[in-house]
Amino acid sequence: MTYHAIAIDGPAASGKSTLARTLAEKLGLVMVNSGAMYRAVTWKILSEKIDPKDSAAVAESLGKMNIVCGRDGVLSTIRIDDGDPTPFLRNPEINANVSTVSAIPQVREKLVRLQRDYLQRTHVVMEGRDIGSVVFPNTPFKIYIDADPSVRNSRRSDDGEEDSVEKRDAADSSRTTAPLKVADGATVLDTSKLTVEGVVEAAVSILKGQGFPLHGTLPPELSEEPHIPMRWIYWLGWMAFGASYRTLFGLRIIGDENLIKSGPVLVASNHQSFLDPPLIGNLYKTEMVFFARKTLFKGIGKWLYPQWNAIPVDQDRPDMGSIKTVIRKLKQGWRVLVFPEGARTLDGKIGEAAAGVGMIAAKAGVPIQPVRIFGADKALPRGTGKVTLARITVKVGKPIILSPEELKSYSGKEGYQALTDRIMDAIKAL
Ligand code: CDP
Repeated sequence: MTYHAIAIDGPAASGKSTLARTLAEKLGLVMVNSGAMYRAVTWKILSEKIDPKDSAAVAESLGKMNIVCGRDGVLSTIRIDDGDPTPFLRNPEINANVSTVSAIPQVREKLVRLQRDYLQRTHVVMEGRDIGSVVFPNTPFKIYIDADPSVRNSRRSDDGEEDSVEKRDAADSSRTTAPLKVADGATVLDTSKLTVEGVVEAAVSILKGQGFPLHGTLPPELSEEPHIPMRWIYWLGWMAFGASYRTLFGLRIIGDENLIKSGPVLVASNHQSFLDPPLIGNLYKTEMVFFARKTLFKGIGKWLYPQWNAIPVDQDRPDMGSIKTVIRKLKQGWRVLVFPEGARTLDGKIGEAAAGVGMIAAKAGVPIQPVRIFGADKALPRGTGKVTLARITVKVGKPIILSPEELKSYSGKEGYQALTDRIMDAIKAL
């Protein structure tokens, strides 16, 4: 198996780590922060009271260091002589000395070898200064990210860090061994005016242009639907609804390439009509879980709805029970459809949504798929029960995949509401 390497280089505080981590999560690679390796060695040198400017002493100590590079989920880890330098890597004294240590050729030689080792085991997105020029010069996937010095300085101080960005840049760019530069074949991306999402989007399109196998915008394990046959009763509903939607409403789907087709997903959609659940169910070829008003579970409904994986929900009051059920279903690996607004729209507009869906998303920690339905309110207006031949369009948005830090930040009532709002904004933007 050949593994792919994405090389991201750039000056201090240009946003390399954030981009690399997001790409790792989105594309299914391991993110290797090469700067953390140089920082870890600097930590060890300082803790041994060696003068970082004394390159002979640094090289000698380095020869004895046992550096172990591993991974924890999508992130790289490093230990030196059984010590864990991770909590100290961004201390001011490390910021102040890392460029001196990293300019020593023996340090680079040892760490570059460890960096290349990662590619023997997995796909990597590695960020640093010389990844595209020295570590993986042959990879076609190279991005050089940059930002105005003022923007970079303020990003660092916003992080509460004491760091002289320009001083480090000057040292990193002027050293003889592996200086910071735009590698051959790298595409330059200026992030000064971009949001994090904007940077990621631009990077994904650069990688696409460089031929990175993106499978739409998703890693293969998310974009390929597993072969799990539907039970006949589910299939019957799925097929009957799907066929009638296509003939009666000219059902059109936009953004299919964004659709996460395997594993647990919280599908969040606006709600226009009774047509909506099977409409969303028809986006997939495997079964999913829905919710239906408690009052529908009578007569044949009592038997049929559970067959279609519908869970009864109380629409009249906040229903902690059903929130817990969704979280449980997601944790079991199901794809679940929720309507954050709760009820169907009266006027076609998207209404307010409460904190519930944010709570589900934060607690379950699964990818969120924003979806927007157009025209179902005309095809079957609320309150009339009359079907009209109106065109229905479903737009599938890019998934929201939250990093562990982001998940943690969305906690408590306000945090859940903020996440709900983010999901609703993603739906409205479609
Ligand atoms: O996060 P930030 O951009 O501030 O820096 P970093 O990526 O953590 O790198 C810290 C220092 O390590 C840099 O200033 C360089 O001196 C050195 N470094 C390097 O020489 N080569 C690399 N591939 C990565 C980092």
